[in-house]
Amino acid sequence: MVNKLIWKSALILFSFISLVIFPGFSEKDEIVVIANKRNFIIIGDTQRIGFWESLYWDYWSEHNKEKTKLLFKEIAREEPDFILHLGDLTRDGGNDTAWNEFDEDYQFVKEKGIPVFPVFGNHEYFGNEETLLINWNKRFPQIKGRKWYSLDYDELGIIMFNSNFDELNENDKAEQLKWYAEKLHEMETDNRIKKIIVAGHHPPFTNSKIVNPNLDVAKYYVEPFEKTKKGILFFSGHCHSYEKFVRSGKYFIVSGGGGGPRQKLNTNKLTRKFDDKFNGPVTRFFHFCKLSVNQDSIYLDVVGLDKGNHFIIKDNFRFKK
Ligand SMILES: [Fe+2]
Repeated sequence: MVNKLIWKSALILFSFISLVIFPGFSEKDEIVVIANKRNFIIIGDTQRIGFWESLYWDYWSEHNKEKTKLLFKEIAREEPDFILHLGDLTRDGGNDTAWNEFDEDYQFVKEKGIPVFPVFGNHEYFGNEETLLINWNKRFPQIKGRKWYSLDYDELGIIMFNSNFDELNENDKAEQLKWYAEKLHEMETDNRIKKIIVAGHHPPFTNSKIVNPNLDVAKYYVEPFEKTKKGILFFSGHCHSYEKFVRSGKYFIVSGGGGGPRQKLNTNKLTRKFDDKFNGPVTRFFHFCKLSVNQDSIYLDVVGLDKGNHFIIKDNFRFKK
């Protein structure tokens, strides 16, 4: 009995010391999300258009908050286990008003208590970083202040990384990269994990006419991912559209259709940078993706909003477990 008490006290003391020495988190710890419905939603770039953006490019008609609300309303109706957000939740992460707008846009989800697991987008870093972190931690306490983290969900390992390399110091960048390599290895060798999914904001491949493919993401995050056996899906946002690329048998999905001003794509097969496997128009639909798991397979449905505000499946594919 006394021994037990001593051990318990030692454990509590160790936990306390760990928290003091490593404020934030233990990077080895995954966040376990219970799979009740066996599906979750992926959405990106739900930010409203900023004032300066509205004066630039051809964005005059791109005030899409009502579309974003419709997407979140439909997601709330689905009641998924969680939402994976690919970043750019708000137009300006360092601005309380922008966060209040986000609250208004995703209120249906909030009311149902569906947890949101986001990665940082570049818009999150606009303005004051302290204000960003206060708003971020208040809305997403489940990620415990982590800048990068992983999820353990129904035989899937999901890695959420921070692709805002300009906003990370050298130490953070090196630490995240080391963590990423270790996490991929850990998931590859864990028999319980059947497939690996990676998500970050900046796309390694895109034919957007507005934003560029991110070469650092391609070099440091895609290359190791391509070497894995279990890796199936690599999600990005930032390009406000839907694109699908396939390399080394893995899918690279750009899913930035949450309401941010839509970007035109280069769809010319002779001049575009990458071979988009989705045969769509220059300007594409607002959408979210739904990932479902069953005994043998993983399904991805791309759910788009048509002109009459109806939801239709725009693309879908399946992976065998
Ligand atoms: Fe972005």
